[in-house]
Amino acid sequence: MLIAHLSDPHLCPPGTLYQSVLDTTPRFPEALAQAASFGPDLVILSGDVTEHGDAESYALACELLGKLPCPILAIPGNHDDREGFRAALSQLPNLVSLPDTGPLHAVAEGSVRVVGLDVTVPGQHHGRIEASHVDWLDRVLAAARDTPTMVMLHQPPFTTGIGYIDDYRCFGEDLLAQVIHRHPQVIRVLAGHVHRFTLTEFAGRPALTAPATATSLALRLAPGAEPASVTEPAAFLMHHWSGGRLTTHFQPVGDFPGPHPFF
Ligand SMILES: [Fe+2]
Repeated sequence: MLIAHLSDPHLCPPGTLYQSVLDTTPRFPEALAQAASFGPDLVILSGDVTEHGDAESYALACELLGKLPCPILAIPGNHDDREGFRAALSQLPNLVSLPDTGPLHAVAEGSVRVVGLDVTVPGQHHGRIEASHVDWLDRVLAAARDTPTMVMLHQPPFTTGIGYIDDYRCFGEDLLAQVIHRHPQVIRVLAGHVHRFTLTEFAGRPALTAPATATSLALRLAPGAEPASVTEPAAFLMHHWSGGRLTTHFQPVGDFPGPHPFF
């Protein structure tokens, strides 16, 4: 099974620039097209589909995502509008269905399950695990104890060392860790929000943040560093399940010299 993982496209209304510096509109379809060329069984999107949560940007998202020939699991980020997201993306025939009310949790079944957990707090940039998230997640995980599962959030429930984004991580992480400890089939914890690839450990499982298709956060690890972004190449992840092992590949988007003979 092959799962393409994109994050943080931050689509903006046509003719406007993301953070006044970048036209995100062409970068997302370029990334989607490159990801689709691998023939994924599923595309997952870990939030911040739009920058402003407006109807025009969601219409653009639907137009682009609707071209994919495979199912899509998408969760919102802190820049999304929960009801705007639900109303627009629910129209996509290939979207893994969203609930009619409340947080936008979603589950994609397959040889690897992906459980999308909406931890956004409307109007806030940080995320938070509440008792209701824990109950829902525990129930969903209990329904398929033997299926390898990735749990995906927007804000990571862990710090990265980049202080200015860690301030807006997902809080209540101990509650989440307790649930994951009860479910050994969870093989990855996935997040977006950081606009960089990071790899660490959470509740004893590999845990990562996906790169963005919008700008990257500057890698500034000094305490108190000034927040900044850099227009690095967009990138995405491919999660490849084969022979009982999940391997995560990092793929920058673009046309690069090659392929050259290697052996
Ligand atoms: Fe973002």
